[in-house]
Amino acid sequence: MCGIFGYVGKRDNGLELVVKGLQKLEYRGYDSWGVATELSGELFIKKQVGKISEAKLEDFADKKTGLAIGHTRWATHGGVTDINAHPHFSSDKKVAVVHNGIIENYEEIREELGRGNFISDTDTEVIPQLISKYLKEMSFKEAVQKTVQRLSGRYAIVAIAVGENLLIAARRGSPLIVGVGEEEYFLASDIPAFLEYTQNVNYLDDNEMVILDGNVEFLNIDTGTAIKKRLVNIDWKAESADKGEYDHYMLKEIMEQKDSILRAINQNTDDIMHIAQMIKDSRGCFLSGCGTAGKVCMAAEYFFSIIAGRHVNYAPASEFPIFHHFLKPESLLIVVSQSGETADVLEAMEAAKGKGAKVLSIVNVESSTIARQSDFSLHIKAGPEKAVASTKAATAQMALFLLITTAMKGELQEGRRILAEVASRTNDMLNPRFLNYIKEVTQKIKGHDNLYIIGKAENYPMALEAAIKIQEVSYVHAEGFAAGELKHGPIALITEGTPCISMIANDEVKSDVINNTIELKARGAHIIGISPDKHEVFDEWIKVPDVGVASPLVNIIPVQLLAYYLGVLRGLDPDMPRNLAKSVTVK
Ligand code: AGP
Repeated sequence: MCGIFGYVGKRDNGLELVVKGLQKLEYRGYDSWGVATELSGELFIKKQVGKISEAKLEDFADKKTGLAIGHTRWATHGGVTDINAHPHFSSDKKVAVVHNGIIENYEEIREELGRGNFISDTDTEVIPQLISKYLKEMSFKEAVQKTVQRLSGRYAIVAIAVGENLLIAARRGSPLIVGVGEEEYFLASDIPAFLEYTQNVNYLDDNEMVILDGNVEFLNIDTGTAIKKRLVNIDWKAESADKGEYDHYMLKEIMEQKDSILRAINQNTDDIMHIAQMIKDSRGCFLSGCGTAGKVCMAAEYFFSIIAGRHVNYAPASEFPIFHHFLKPESLLIVVSQSGETADVLEAMEAAKGKGAKVLSIVNVESSTIARQSDFSLHIKAGPEKAVASTKAATAQMALFLLITTAMKGELQEGRRILAEVASRTNDMLNPRFLNYIKEVTQKIKGHDNLYIIGKAENYPMALEAAIKIQEVSYVHAEGFAAGELKHGPIALITEGTPCISMIANDEVKSDVINNTIELKARGAHIIGISPDKHEVFDEWIKVPDVGVASPLVNIIPVQLLAYYLGVLRGLDPDMPRNLAKSVTVK
């Protein structure tokens, strides 16, 4: 939620650089944007409602500066207005701040500083006002430190002050990474924002501050003690985080799944065996995640049951802390997250750790907060995922659960064989003819406002996931059901022509799902069958490979495409759905 970017260094086009960096962070928030620097001894701020991708670099070409900050917003406190856009500044126009997160005690600080001094409706504005107040009595560094010591909530901030040629940043709970170049430093919410300039990073941890001028200095917010940091080299290629030949990141990421699934096979055997043993040794194993990652957890529940014969409980991360009564020091919580920064997941982890339980995480962003706060973390290696709709991360996460559960059964090699087949058959499936056919099917249903999806066993979570994909990129009302649940209520929604997707595998529940599909058809539904085999009940048949228990991995891909085309055909931008952001760092 919200992207922040800062630059200090040898170049004099700092503002342009910040705008370019923010454009790479647009997926984190796109309702308004802004930048700030010091020009001729005064604060220069430009901020406005709109997408950062629409900002013109030439507007900043004549403003020479080697230090600047910027922000692309996903509104939490205060509506989408120019005034509520970041950077926020102090009344004396000496301090400007960009912020990602929520300051929970902002009302109390506003009261203390005098409500009349505030011009925005945001929680953020208290930060520059406090810094400026303290700056009258102490150094900039001390003023920022004293300010952040007073804040409660989750935040990542970057501050500048007139007359101080440095950036000061602090974090608690929201991501912030320092990019270390030659005679220059970058600060960003996510690594791809500065990847074209440097691959060397320092991770800022919770309760830490960093002061960047010609040098870098890390310190603990509470004690002021200096902290030594390890320089980490990131092996992502800058181009892997770009759209390349595709119109949208979402389509690019869907197409990359043949490779991302294959990469799961190359996971280190020792890591997979270690995880399998951790699960076997645990007494009470739980799964948690949000949205798509949560649906992956649900699919994993079936893998644990069907493949490893083990009962594992799932709860959405926002609900998980309620189950803390069941947690013991011998319990294990497995969390799944693409970004590794989701606030609800972090809370679930805190609940588990509070009871002495261990936490294992499966994340796509190595060294993310969730990874670093886990007892053991597995990196899914799907590569950067930029579209708000999660696609390749989800299938890669499911691939890992398949490996883990086959390893628990003592059949890791068989797990690898299955995944190699899934990857190769996904490669075959994602051909231009297949894509065109999905587009044709989408054309036929694009005018409908309601769409239902059914699945059973390991494809039931995929029916739920299919609904999320369609909802978020096309705004069509889509709902997923366990196929057998239809007759207990949802079937009343079906009228003549209602599009219904039936997700089928060649498994022992196939005939049940076919029967439920026939029940839908009898009420007039237009049936889109996703299945390895054709059936007369289908009005449209989307053929998927027969990959046995791994069917969720291939069955979800046509729905990802259908959701994508539905969004495009309805004139929407699938990469930037309204009201959503890629990384949800607020509760
Ligand atoms: C996925 O399409 C969604 N945008 C969303 O549900 C997402 O999966 C969820 O917010 C969890 O994110 P995470 O994987 O980064 O934790």
